[in-house]
Amino acid sequence: MGFLKRIRLSQRFALLITLGIGASSIVLVLYGETILENAMMEQTKKQAVAYLLTLEEEFQRENIPDRAAVQRLVDHARSHLHEVYDFSIFQMYAVAPDGSYLAHSEPDATRRPKDMSGYLGGVLRTRHPYLGGELEWKKVAGVGKEIPAFDIVIPLHHRGTPIGLLEVEIDVNKTLATIRTLVERFEREVVMVWAAVFSLMLAFLLWIVQRGLIRPIGELARVTRRIASGELGARAHLRGEHELGQLGASINHLAESIEHLLTEQERAYIQSMQALAKALEAKDAYTATHSARVSRYSVLLGRRIGLPEQELTLLKQGALMHDLGKIGIPDAILNKPGPLDDREYEVMKQHPEATYTIMRPLTRFKVFAEIARWHHERWDGNGYPDGLKGVAIPLLARIVAIADTWDAMTGDRVYRKAMTVEKALSILDRERGSGQWDTALLDSFIAMIRDQEETREEIEEDMFAGEQG
Ligand SMILES: [Fe+2]
Repeated sequence: MGFLKRIRLSQRFALLITLGIGASSIVLVLYGETILENAMMEQTKKQAVAYLLTLEEEFQRENIPDRAAVQRLVDHARSHLHEVYDFSIFQMYAVAPDGSYLAHSEPDATRRPKDMSGYLGGVLRTRHPYLGGELEWKKVAGVGKEIPAFDIVIPLHHRGTPIGLLEVEIDVNKTLATIRTLVERFEREVVMVWAAVFSLMLAFLLWIVQRGLIRPIGELARVTRRIASGELGARAHLRGEHELGQLGASINHLAESIEHLLTEQERAYIQSMQALAKALEAKDAYTATHSARVSRYSVLLGRRIGLPEQELTLLKQGALMHDLGKIGIPDAILNKPGPLDDREYEVMKQHPEATYTIMRPLTRFKVFAEIARWHHERWDGNGYPDGLKGVAIPLLARIVAIADTWDAMTGDRVYRKAMTVEKALSILDRERGSGQWDTALLDSFIAMIRDQEETREEIEEDMFAGEQG
């Protein structure tokens, strides 16, 4: 049965249906053949009875019912049997009520009287013909062959008085040959019709099984796999009160429960991170305001390059928390009023991995962890902590990297004043090919800042003109 386990469900059904239809067809054909055989044999027996009754009528016309008369009847029947019948006479005789022979188609043989206690006695008593039991194979004397035969017995009367029985053993070889021919034709035709009907039934049943069972099971399997891989919004779309519909509803319910639980867990986690952000703000006010501005610039750049709203929301939150790991950096380094030395810089460089470690449990928001870990990577692969290169750095992390640099230049620091937008832009222009940033993104960012500046100048000019007027 190991073979059955390896084959697909649809093939299993095809096999089962084929076996089922095949077996029932064989039973039907055999049953049909038996009915055909029995009907033909009954027909032959009735012909024999009808024939015997015509003989009896002839006998009724005889004046004196003696043995010679009966023998004449038997001999006449033997010699004049018409060819239209489906049988021939093997033996024919008349017996008296005591079992002695009145006449015999083979008169020379010496015979013991017939036993009248069985069916022969019954025919004599009830005056009803006996149409034979099972088919018998009778030996033909002197020839050594056997012939298929039936016994047919009718009561023999003379002028209303029962005087004995007329018994004939009919040879049904001709009927058997006819049956064989008919059965062969029947089987041939049945096979042809069956092949056509079977193909249609198989196609129809497989279509039903495929539509009602295999396809829904496949859909449930796909939905379950998607849910298992974290796509908790996936749902089964099976309708109906049947078992598969109920299973689909259960899977949907399960996914909803998991989603609800996870949402609760994430909400709690994000709350604890917001608490962490507050703690960082208390420890390092600059990082808090800087993160808010980086978040704003990131969203502006993201919108400019056409990111969808959903991704912009993630970008906004991710950028807000991108430096959260700085909570672990000593105050002396974090708030140092001047450039860091090499050792301090090494400590400072640990913050992306620290932030990543904090964000990692948010499995459904893995972009937060990605932004945190890779916002100090460089396009040319010379950044940290992993030295990722080019498009291997996730897009949102590349966006945050530009926004981060921009705010570092244009925001006030403890140890230096902010530089002007113009100066910062000229530095970006100059460093455009340095390999630090994704140049296509940087170009969009520079164009965006320029647009903003023009708008701002126009507004200022308008206000100035208004004051003069
Ligand atoms: Fe950073």
